[in-house]
Amino acid sequence: MKVPLLDLTAQYKTIKDEVIAAIMPVMETQMLILGGTVEKFEAAMSELTGVKGSIAVSSGTDAIVLAGMALGLGHEDDVIVPSFTFFATAGCIARLGVRPVFADIDPKTYCLDADSVAKLIARDYVVKSDDGPPIHRKTGRKLRAIMPVHLYGQCADMDPLLQICEIYRLHMIEDAAQAIDAHYQGKPAGSMGIVGCYSFYPTKNLGAFGDAGHIVSTDPALTDLMRKMRVHGGHQRYYHDVVGMNARMDAIQAAVLTVKIKHLKKWIHARQELAARYASLFEKHGLLKTITPPATGAGRDHTYHQYVIRAPKRDALRDFLKAADVGCEIYYPMPLHLQKCFANLGYKEGDLPETEKATREVLALPIYPELSSEQQAYVVEKMAEFYRK
Ligand SMILES: Cc1ncc(COP(=O)(O)O)c(C=O)c1O
Repeated sequence: MKVPLLDLTAQYKTIKDEVIAAIMPVMETQMLILGGTVEKFEAAMSELTGVKGSIAVSSGTDAIVLAGMALGLGHEDDVIVPSFTFFATAGCIARLGVRPVFADIDPKTYCLDADSVAKLIARDYVVKSDDGPPIHRKTGRKLRAIMPVHLYGQCADMDPLLQICEIYRLHMIEDAAQAIDAHYQGKPAGSMGIVGCYSFYPTKNLGAFGDAGHIVSTDPALTDLMRKMRVHGGHQRYYHDVVGMNARMDAIQAAVLTVKIKHLKKWIHARQELAARYASLFEKHGLLKTITPPATGAGRDHTYHQYVIRAPKRDALRDFLKAADVGCEIYYPMPLHLQKCFANLGYKEGDLPETEKATREVLALPIYPELSSEQQAYVVEKMAEFYRK
């Protein structure tokens, strides 16, 4: 049996006719960028997130860059981010000249840990004036924002993080790239800060047929600025109020996403059922003494963008599963604070113990709505065989 980590073709087969019917008018009218098709999708995202400010963009990366630009983040600024995430989280702000400041994760949910953030601010920053930002004791840089990542499909513990933002007057930027329609105390991922960024990279729970992304914002002025900056900084062609970029969404992607968003809740539900079935299969095979299945934090739901376990002898297990035609992947093998491109920031091994431990232990197993129970049983049988050896 072959079990891929993800099978996009299987999903496409279930919506092929709907997708073709949706993209046909785009091709016929040749209204290929922004326009009515994109506006329709923006309305659908507003409805899903409950946030009025809704801007369709070219990728999750561009969503974060655009948000950072519109918030005026730059060369004198620091932003706190997790190190255990996809590179774009820190890469996008670093591109603006911002210094990413890495905090550790909660070992249960793998998301940014509020205690680690609070300790970091208390240790490294000083508040010099009542209405000013925290200033870094050594570099003099200003701390301007916190950007948690809702990793693998579940929200970070937002209340204490929002509280820190309130105390220090920091922007809350949510990297919700992996967590569309996940919730924290009933609130959708991306809707709790001043700006939420999403990715529709094809492997995401809501995936486009190429690159695409989205921004929502609860701040009308910021929304207007980001909307302008999406198209080189002006609402009127050839007149530019500010310097922006090209971060427009293609109409074909919006047409595909408008079809897919209607299926999203059903697909998330299927992922949740698969996660529950993994848990019972692990129990049946006595694997719960050995591996740690994903945990869902209090007040949250998990949308299982990835189904990630902690596993002893992780690399050997990965090789064994791959040899048995079971797709699996390590997200992420190298923490961001130890990446070569951030060597100038001066981090060293041991700085973020939970992050570094996770990079050595995590393994993502196949999960997608069309995964069959036979395939799932095969994955767990192979895992049990590995640990019996
Ligand atoms: C946590 C996180 N942030 C940002 C991004 C960037 O999104 P994109 O690949 O659409 O540029 C991704 C996606 O892959 C991601 O997983």
